[in-house]
This record gives sequence, structure tokens and C-alpha cells, in this order.
Amino acid sequence: MGKKRIVITGASRGIGLEMARILISQGHTVFGAVRNPEGASDLHDAGPAGVLKLDIGDQESISNFCEELASETDSLDILVNNAGITSNDLGADRRQCNPWQIDPAIVLEETRINALGPMMITRGLVALLESGDNPVVLNTSSQLGSMVVGAMMPFDVAYNVSKAAVNMITVMSASTNKNIAFVALHPGWVKTDMGTDAAELEVPEAANAIVNSLMSLTIEDSGRFIRWDGTDHPW
Ligand SMILES: NC(=O)c1ccc[n+]([C@@H]2O[C@H](COP(=O)([O-])OP(=O)(O)OC[C@H]3O[C@@H](n4cnc5c(N)ncnc54)[C@H](OP(=O)(O)O)[C@@H]3O)[C@@H](O)[C@H]2O)c1
Repeated sequence: MGKKRIVITGASRGIGLEMARILISQGHTVFGAVRNPEGASDLHDAGPAGVLKLDIGDQESISNFCEELASETDSLDILVNNAGITSNDLGADRRQCNPWQIDPAIVLEETRINALGPMMITRGLVALLESGDNPVVLNTSSQLGSMVVGAMMPFDVAYNVSKAAVNMITVMSASTNKNIAFVALHPGWVKTDMGTDAAELEVPEAANAIVNSLMSLTIEDSGRFIRWDGTDHPW
């Protein structure tokens, strides 16, 4: 397997950090994108090619990040849009995040960060990706962005809408750019700060499965919505 140049956003902790650790241990060139590079000691310890500053909710930060990355590498093979938040991170009371009670400002802000952030990062890196080898953009969605599952788990309309938007952006990117594979991912319910200890999957279990699936993706997979193990998730 050839060595890849990879960017992972939200590489400070959780699934993103573990994916970075695995991919670095496999010899790939990994750039971790984090909000606070100085504080990302676990990522630094993993030995990435670079730790770059990126706030996915801030367009100026996205532009600076894309410029900084372009000064470090002339091509990119994989972009993992992993960083994301829930309504808890915006200070909302999860018991009031249903469609009848949520503050609409939370829905807009969460969609801006979770969906438009990745879209603008991808836009900023498209030239580097088009110079890459079998380029792939893995957009971290969630089962909660699925119409089927979201209807059964209608607790946080802001999160579900933001991840449904990630799915739509993924399929529209796939249908309008045939040079790059765009794939939406449900990473599983994972024991991270976001997933909580009640989750089903340990972080290394999920991250290893995601990395295996990621490495087998080709342009033929563009427009798919997959689970961590590479199987199709229903829309
Ligand atoms: N865990 C699950 O069960 C689960 C299930 C379905 C989908 N997902 C999705 O999987 C992805 C990773 O989740 P996780 O469980 O690993 O979450 P996590 O442990 O809460 O980590 C979230 C990561 O996103 C980063 N982040 C948050 N806001 C950011 C911003 N504005 N700019 C840059 N980075 C930002 C965090 O950075 P800081 O350290 O700076 O806060 C952190 O690295 C998310 O997109 C999430 O929605 C998770």
C-alpha cells in the first residue's frame, strides 16, 4: 500500500486522534488540524508531519489553514472531515433540543459549524486533492443524519439536521466533481467525550475499522454513506 498524505480535522482527541495515531504508525504523512496546537499534546506525541491550527467554525481560520497546508505539501490524498459538535457544546439543554422547543439559532450555528465548515475546508483544499493519488474526502456524518434513524432518535434536531446536511453536501460534491471520491461516514456509537461511556464501540475498535474502510475507498465509492466497517448505511 502506498504512503498517503492525509489531513484529519479534530485530531486533538476522540476518533480523530486515534485515526491519526493509527495512520502515523502505518507510515502515512498525517497533518492533524486542531483548534489549539499548543494544547494538543497527545497528537504531538503521535509524531504527525504537522499540527496545524484550524477552527472549522471560522472562515478566516479555514483560509489560513488551507494556505498553511499548501505551504507544507503540494498534494493531498485524503481529507478526513472529522471535527464536529453537538448542541451540548453550544450550551443547549439536550432535553429541549426537539423540534418544538429548540432555539433556532442553535440549529443554524450547529449546521454552520458541522456542515458548512467541512464544505469550506474541502473547497479550500480541492486543488491539493486534485493533485493527489486516488483522492478521498471522508465526511464524518452520523446515523442521526439518516432520515430513517433520525426519525427514531428525534432528540437533537440541530445535530440531526447538521449531519443530514453533511450527507447532502457529500452527494452533491460527488455528483459535481468526478476527480475526488466523497464519502459520508457513520463512525459508530463510540466511547468518546461526545459518545459518552454508554457507547457501544471502544475508540480503537472504531478507529481501526474506519481506517481499514478508508484505505479501500476508490472513486467507485464516491457518493456512498458508509458505516465504520465499510458497509452501506441507509440514507
Ligand atoms: N462518538 C460518537 O458516538 C459519534 C457518533 C456519530 C458521529 N460522530 C461524529 O464523529 C466525529 C468525531 O466525534 P468524537 O466522538 O471523536 O468527538 P469528540 O471526542 O467530542 O471530539 C471532537 C473533536 O472535534 C474538535 N472540534 C470541535 N469543534 C471544533 C471546531 N470548531 N474547530 C475545530 N475542531 C473542533 C474537537 O477539538 P477540541 O479538542 O479543540 O474541542 C475534538 O478534536 C464528529 O463529527 C461527531 O459528530 C461521533
